[in-house]
Amino acid sequence: MTTKVIKGGTVCTADRAWKADVLIEGETIKQIGEDLKGDEYIDAEGAYVIPGGIDPHTHLEMPFMGTTAAETFESGTWAAACGGTTMLVDFCLPGEDGSIVNGIKEWHRKSAPQICSDIGYHMAVTGWNENIFEEMKTAVEMGVNSFKHFMAYKGALMIEDDEMFASFQRCKELGALPMVHAENGDLVAILQEKYMNEGITGPEGHAYSRPPELEGEAANRAITIADAAGVPLYIVHVSCEQAHEAIRRARQKGMRVYGEPLIQFLTLDESEYFNKDWDHAARRVMSPPFRNKKHQDSLWAGLQSGSLQVVATDHAAFNTEQKRAGRDDFRIIPNGSNGLEERLAVLWTEGVETGRLTPQEFVAATSTNVAKILNIYPKKGAIVEGADADIVVWDPKISKTISPSNHHSVLDYNVFEGFEVTANARYTLSRGDVIWAWGKNSQPQPGRGRFVPRPAFPSAHTALSKWKELNSPRKIERDPMNIPAGI
Ligand code: URP
Ligand code: ZN
Ligand code: ZN
Ligand code: ZN
Repeated sequence: MTTKVIKGGTVCTADRAWKADVLIEGETIKQIGEDLKGDEYIDAEGAYVIPGGIDPHTHLEMPFMGTTAAETFESGTWAAACGGTTMLVDFCLPGEDGSIVNGIKEWHRKSAPQICSDIGYHMAVTGWNENIFEEMKTAVEMGVNSFKHFMAYKGALMIEDDEMFASFQRCKELGALPMVHAENGDLVAILQEKYMNEGITGPEGHAYSRPPELEGEAANRAITIADAAGVPLYIVHVSCEQAHEAIRRARQKGMRVYGEPLIQFLTLDESEYFNKDWDHAARRVMSPPFRNKKHQDSLWAGLQSGSLQVVATDHAAFNTEQKRAGRDDFRIIPNGSNGLEERLAVLWTEGVETGRLTPQEFVAATSTNVAKILNIYPKKGAIVEGADADIVVWDPKISKTISPSNHHSVLDYNVFEGFEVTANARYTLSRGDVIWAWGKNSQPQPGRGRFVPRPAFPSAHTALSKWKELNSPRKIERDPMNIPAGI
């Protein structure tokens, strides 16, 4: 078996950074140490050697809002690799017959011939019945151990509280991780109609109709339901202080609640929707919408303090023509924005270069924490002997201006267009193969990527309910804060 040595770099993991070479044999890391020898050498002089990025949240080729996301499994995994992301976890939808097992099979059919690097799946639970209850077990056996529940998109994907509770209980039985899109879909629908009736039909109506209060309410509700079911909870695309506050409070009480801000939310704000040309604003329409600077500060603080654990993209890419379906009605603009290729470079530039995050915290948020929370650590997310050699030689001296003319997505725009980023992937390795080399005219290698099954969590992970009401006869007690009755 040929061996490769990543030579002369600073290995940077979630806990430390030190000068070392990394020896790769076949697909895995064989040794980390000084002066290692191999058949081939990869130059890491002046660069960090980090675990490949893992994007926990993408929607490639997803049928949604009357169209299909333009980013394919090939272009998505390729763009990811060019930006230092070696694995992504994509959201499957149930099949047309409502079967989640058929949904997973459909995702395999689409993704397998196309993927350039490894992927995993989450599954969306968009309703509740006996069949879904049964099939969730099969899904976990197929390596899909996390289920997303949409509290928004009324009339389409939205799920009711009783259904969500039933599904969360099922997750607990199976050792699976429930996830939520936290927005109060009923109130969003009312506000959407109100603004349309007032003649606010443009993209700014999208932002107005999805205030942070509605995200905070839903986050609190989902946390309460998870607590009642005794399961951990992962809240996707956290955009605001209200949702972050709910997560902080739950964690302080001992609950395992995870929060995922997006790179877009950390760096782009609501001004993108106002006094901008229609295309500019519509291209940035996503749910939840971009917020103001105060919310951004809250998200950065969460990453710094650990109350928010990972940074994702929610990459759901719709071309300008697709966005224009909502020309007269913001409710029809397909929701989603891009970031798969840009996530690491933008987080480095805006996070590490500014002193908000250490390089180790950067690694934790982009890779290691994702692998731990999604139960694929240390196969992924780690630079240790035996781990998959998904490694990025991260060069803090390669700068570029983000533009659709130099990105690798199929998208005809880029929400980060004009951002000057100060670091980039010099080399990206996926299971030992160099799949991207800066300035070397690398080409995508569709079909070489693999599906990574994610096993069920051990039962201890789920045995967390502080709330016994549902499991034992109700007793009237003073509340735990000792607040006298009547106040
Ligand atoms: O606007 C968004 N976020 N689009 C993708 C679907 C979702 O809600 O995650
Ligand atoms: Zn409802
Ligand atoms: Zn969502
Ligand atoms: Zn999403």
